[in-house]
Amino acid sequence: MKWILILITVSLWEISQCQYEEDTLWWLSYMQNQFYNYDSFYEEDRTPSSQDCPLECDCPPSFPTAMYCDSRNLKHLPYVPSRMKYVYFQNNQISSVQDDAFENATGLMWVVLNDNQIGSEKIGGKVFSKLKNLERLYLDSNNLSRVPSSLPRSLRELHLSSNLLGRLPSNALEGLENLTALHLHDNQIQDVGGVFKWLKSLVILDLSNNNLRKVPDGLPTSLQQIYLEFNHLSTIPDEYFRALPNIQYVRLSHNQLTNDGIPSNPFNTTSLLELDLSYNNLQRIPPVNTNLEHFYLQGNQITEFSIGSFCKSVDIINFSRIQVLRLDGNIIQQNDIPPDTPLCLRQASLIDI
Ligand SMILES: *[C@@H]1O[C@H](CO)[C@@H](O)[C@H](O)[C@H]1NC(C)=O
Ligand SMILES: *[C@@H]1O[C@H](CO)[C@@H](O)[C@H](O)[C@H]1NC(C)=O
Ligand SMILES: *[C@@H]1O[C@H](CO)[C@@H](O)[C@H](O)[C@H]1NC(C)=O
Ligand SMILES: *[C@@H]1O[C@H](CO)[C@@H](O)[C@H](O)[C@H]1NC(C)=O
Ligand SMILES: *[C@@H]1O[C@H](CO)[C@@H](O)[C@H](O)[C@H]1NC(C)=O
Repeated sequence: MKWILILITVSLWEISQCQYEEDTLWWLSYMQNQFYNYDSFYEEDRTPSSQDCPLECDCPPSFPTAMYCDSRNLKHLPYVPSRMKYVYFQNNQISSVQDDAFENATGLMWVVLNDNQIGSEKIGGKVFSKLKNLERLYLDSNNLSRVPSSLPRSLRELHLSSNLLGRLPSNALEGLENLTALHLHDNQIQDVGGVFKWLKSLVILDLSNNNLRKVPDGLPTSLQQIYLEFNHLSTIPDEYFRALPNIQYVRLSHNQLTNDGIPSNPFNTTSLLELDLSYNNLQRIPPVNTNLEHFYLQGNQITEFSIGSFCKSVDIINFSRIQVLRLDGNIIQQNDIPPDTPLCLRQASLIDI
């Protein structure tokens, strides 16, 4: 009996030793694999997928459709292999993009070219037209004086902020019916004509920090957010926001709005949730809808706290949904707030005066 027990114990011990060794080997080969991958990441031409990678770029084998060429003082666009979908060229000194730059990479989905020195006269007229899958184009912080021509209809996001754009011809964005975000801030845009009428899916339009003297018209009804701060706007047409049934966020700070410039009640529109009218020349609080939640009026010349701008009547259903109201930097004082204010502004968590 004793012998048998010992034999069984020994063989059990051997089995467990065996497993242990197997584990050790597995662990070693795992480490070797890790080192192998590490090598092929940094040394060119080890694996087939990095053979076609331009020397000045990185094409990680783990992400075979992406090519990273950003922040390395490039003056010219490198060749883009046909398998690429995402290419990153931002933060270089690239000044031109020839018509054939993406000739063999027609499957590109993202082209990132921001923070370069690309001028409109140095960008091919057809460079993007063959990219039928292009969804995002980043050209912000360049030297563009015109919107590039022949943009593909597949675009969803177009970034053109911090350039030298002035006038936008009415056909500049023709056919971009899938575009949801258009970033045009920090340019010198004065006249927008009917340029936005094509953009049937537009959700966000950023035109802040330009030279607009008139709010853009012909905006698509899909629009939810419009940023117009830091322009030269002094009036808002009566029905302006009523033509935008989905508008939720409106930024108009740092303009020249006066109460005379908004004679009717352009902001009394049910969809609006956030309205920024700070740093204008308002003397009275413009009437707003009871659905508004965030209202910024700091830095104006408001002299009275008119509760009628928020509630025409107060009862169980008629009260303001305002949560944050900023009135600091005006002429009114804390004791100008009428005593019945809490009945109307019953959801306000911050009233800053
Ligand atoms: C595209 O591919 C063709 C055929 O492989 C090649 O001849 C041509 O030079 C390539 N285009 C560019 C811009 O490199
Ligand atoms: C692009 O604009 C910057 C700043 O305005 C200027 O310094 C640079 O020379 C311009 N580059 C080209 C290629 O025109
Ligand atoms: C627009 O988006 C829809 C839905 O994703 C897609 O089916 C259609 O092909 C796109 N249009 C263009 C011109 O790419
Ligand atoms: C906003 O418009 C609605 C409906 O037209 C109206 O009943 C309400 O009194 C208006 N609100 C203000 C503050 O003028
Ligand atoms: C609440 O407001 C609505 C719309 O402004 C109005 O029709 C209704 O008469 C008001 N209710 C009361 C009790 O004043």
